[in-house]
Amino acid sequence: MQYLIAANWKMHGLAAQLVEIEAVAAAVTATRPKADTLICVPATLISRAVQTASGRIPIGGEDCGAEDAGAFTGDTSAGMLKDAGASAVIVGHSERRHYQRETDAAVAAKASAAWRAGLMAIICIGETDAQRRNGAAISTCGDQIAGSVPETLADPGILAIAYEPLWAIGTGHMPAANEIVEMHAHIRQCLTTRFGQAAGKHIRILYGGSVKPANAREILALPNVGGALVGGASLHAADFNAIIRAAE
Ligand code: 13P
Repeated sequence: MQYLIAANWKMHGLAAQLVEIEAVAAAVTATRPKADTLICVPATLISRAVQTASGRIPIGGEDCGAEDAGAFTGDTSAGMLKDAGASAVIVGHSERRHYQRETDAAVAAKASAAWRAGLMAIICIGETDAQRRNGAAISTCGDQIAGSVPETLADPGILAIAYEPLWAIGTGHMPAANEIVEMHAHIRQCLTTRFGQAAGKHIRILYGGSVKPANAREILALPNVGGALVGGASLHAADFNAIIRAAE
């Protein structure tokens, strides 16, 4: 399985930042990395990011509506993201679960909507600091998988799970290697139990939370780590390119 190195720009990205996409696309074209890459940007930037990338790297969205269309003022459907040129979408990021109070069921509905529109879905899960301290990290993430991943999966390639411990996002704090290994093994087990060995073992499980050029190689070498979802370090092409190179 190839690594997937995915960027999540969050609420960053004006036209001026398209130069970062150009720099990543140029590096990917020049070095032909073995890893798959993806840059997820705000909905307003998708079509321009797609133009800038001009087929050299795929562009994704950061959220989508659960419905295909309708009276949902301000929401963006998965079909609209696809229409703008996106090929993937992040759903259930912890920031949306927290600030927008998205439930597991809402996240599952969004993932289904993504698939109906022909987008790959990156479903995010992760425990809080308190949950980890109380010994509930594994059960929390298992419950999130049970509730946020739709029942049926047409193809393992249209799903990635991103394990992002909330306390590691934007903090510079990282789980210990053995904690990542334990969690990713548990996620793998949840996926093979749900979808069977053949499909379950081909779903990529990304790690996210303070991934930087300095720690990417070590993280990506861990068993069941199929890539990374990168926030802050993805905003600068030099850092994101270094993380892509770490997947070699
Ligand atoms: P940071 O890489 O900034 O910690 O963010 C991780 C994240 O939330 C990616 O979705």
